[in-house]
Amino acid sequence: MIKDDTQELLLSEAASFPSLLPTPPTDPIWWRQAAIYQIYVRSFADGNGDGIGDLRGVRDRLPYLRDLGIDAVWFTPWYESPLKDGGYDVADYRRINPQFGSVEEAEVLILEALALGIRTIVDVVPNHVSNRHAWFQQALAAGAESPERERFWFREGRGDSGELVPNEWPSSFSGDTWTRTTNADGTPGEWYLHLFTPEQPDLNWDHPDVRREHEDVLKFWFDRGVGGVRIDSAALVVKDPALPEIDPVAHYRQGEHPNLDRDGLHDIYRSWRAIANSYEGSRVLVGEVWLADLERFALYLRPDELHTAFNFEFMNQPWNEPDLRKAIDGTLAAHAPVGAPSTWVLSNHDITRPVTRYGRADSSFDFAKKRFGTPTDLAVGARRARAAALLTAALPGALYLYQGDELGLPEVEDIPLDRLDDPMHFRSARVDPGRDGCRVPLPWSGAVAPYGFSPDGATAEPWLPQPTAFAGLTVEKQEQDPASMLLLYRRALQLRGIEPSLLGETFTWVGDSATNVLHFRRGEDVVVVTNLGDEPVALPEHTAILLCSDPLVEGLLPPDTAVWLRTSA
Ligand code: GLC
Ligand code: CA
Repeated sequence: MIKDDTQELLLSEAASFPSLLPTPPTDPIWWRQAAIYQIYVRSFADGNGDGIGDLRGVRDRLPYLRDLGIDAVWFTPWYESPLKDGGYDVADYRRINPQFGSVEEAEVLILEALALGIRTIVDVVPNHVSNRHAWFQQALAAGAESPERERFWFREGRGDSGELVPNEWPSSFSGDTWTRTTNADGTPGEWYLHLFTPEQPDLNWDHPDVRREHEDVLKFWFDRGVGGVRIDSAALVVKDPALPEIDPVAHYRQGEHPNLDRDGLHDIYRSWRAIANSYEGSRVLVGEVWLADLERFALYLRPDELHTAFNFEFMNQPWNEPDLRKAIDGTLAAHAPVGAPSTWVLSNHDITRPVTRYGRADSSFDFAKKRFGTPTDLAVGARRARAAALLTAALPGALYLYQGDELGLPEVEDIPLDRLDDPMHFRSARVDPGRDGCRVPLPWSGAVAPYGFSPDGATAEPWLPQPTAFAGLTVEKQEQDPASMLLLYRRALQLRGIEPSLLGETFTWVGDSATNVLHFRRGEDVVVVTNLGDEPVALPEHTAILLCSDPLVEGLLPPDTAVWLRTSA
């Protein structure tokens, strides 16, 4: 790769004077109320015209991210990977996928972002690696009962000739969780466990190499200046080594389920926290913890474990007042005893886009319910997504924003079937549309595909086709439209970053529930009202309107609208 002058300069500075790295923003508790933007690299911006997003593309768009008012970016896995699960099949943590760039370029990107006040969070996937990872290749080559296989879960099959799977654990994607290997002489061999696809063999966390390697990976990226790590599938990582069957109706003693939320996880995350704490500045650990039991969830957030974890309870709720209120209350109550901030997430690279989800009769989110052809009213969905943006951005804690939600992109539901790439789709016998609909390359400018995603003169089309509807949703277009979703998000994030009442953590409900209105006070003098009912409502007393998701009608707050108000203290 040819390096330009800035890169050359930054690289040499970084290499020879580590102490002269640009001074990062210094607030040690930045993560408690940060706005964090999730980048799915493959679909963010393509710098070299091959139709695939890359680090060059991200670097070119850093000013866009600064103007959006975010504090950090989180990159979904950007490492070397065969991309059998969008990069969550990591072949080598110490290399960047060559389609995206190089480690040197990642270092430059981290520095350039910091210079604009943006920290970088990388993704680590401890539950599994790619089947192309050196360890798995060594395990296959070394054969049955070899030490190389002990880093994974290899087992003899059951049945007379080992033809039956070792156990019947369900997969986190539909389909099987075991794949049988073939011995060097061509005979059928042992099976290996994979909670996700066969290309993602599960690691055995009882093995010391597995622990050591991940600790080294954390250091590798902390040494390169990252401000935090997002931990994939964080509650699945430790297994009962006896691999007993899972009884779906049994009540396991807490911490003793065969493969979920086992007590042994806490020890791992404590050692990760110690590593994070040994670095200057605050390096944060963010867990992807899918647990319905919020008390168990909060255990991961004790002061010597993870700093924060994603709160999916809120994201999964339908657009109605009682369910959202309950999720907000439950979240705040669960976090309070451990003193950790809540996180608020409306979507990510796995979830149906809010504009689409909120336009449906059933606006809750559940992987199991995803189907092609669900009737959707995008105008209603867009209106609710705007209100949801203001509601969410006003809650106390950290905010996660998935790329493209700031443009109000809908889920793309008409990707030609032969272009779909997601194992969730394939493994459901093609019944579940999968997650590609929220992973379509972003529209930046212009009236025709690739809408500025790739530079002029690009040699290839975007890796997933963009719909013509993206023409009306480009960044360029929205920047000129004061009523656009982009400008709403910009104003919300900027205000959120400077309003003392929103920066603090105090939150109190105002009025009673069951009114179809969520009405709360933040700090001294900000009040937030969201109308989830069918009738316009009067605004409470206020001295100014700070921000409204859609215009008032005759002085009233219309349905599916949220407003931030200044009140007297
Ligand atoms: C997480 C990721 C998802 C991935 C899975 C397996 O849920 O968000 O994209 O497929 O883990 O790594
Ligand atoms: Ca590219």
